[in-house]
Amino acid sequence: MERKQIGFELLIFEDANELSQNEQKLLHTAEQARENAYAPYSRFKVGAAVLLENGEVVIGNNQENASYPSGLCAERVAVFQAGAKYPGVAIKAVAISAASQDHVLQMPAAPCGNCRQSIMEYEQKQNAPIVLLLKAEKGPVYKCASMADILPLAFNSAFLSDS
Ligand code: THU
Repeated sequence: MERKQIGFELLIFEDANELSQNEQKLLHTAEQARENAYAPYSRFKVGAAVLLENGEVVIGNNQENASYPSGLCAERVAVFQAGAKYPGVAIKAVAISAASQDHVLQMPAAPCGNCRQSIMEYEQKQNAPIVLLLKAEKGPVYKCASMADILPLAFNSAFLSDS
């Protein structure tokens, strides 16, 4: 039997001003995108901003539905839009901003499992890490160096073939 510890380094910035100008800008874009979320059911708005290798930034926000499971998270709206508009262009970073309309969110909301898996698809395809920046309305910024960090032992396309 072998034991293996799997961990990752989470960077916590108490002040967003400690981030680079570009990172601050991306987070700001995610915050702006959050405003246009359609979240009448959960009243929990999320915005995402995807920075691509070509310098373009693509945004998304959560889009809910009266048939709840038909809605989609901000992160997937954003990365799918990026894939649709700029196919094959690598994703450098994704900034995610979350806020509740009912209480002050103090800690960054981490992407849900489905969004992690969806973003992981692009990370695996491009064979280069996607940086994540997470922030709530208040509180610190969390920075992860790659999606693989927060989705260890991920399922990926390698399992689907024998090569
Ligand atoms: N939501 C996101 O947009 N991203 C996540 O990673 C977690 C949750 C949305 C889905 C739903 O519209 C609302 O937040 C409450 O779950």
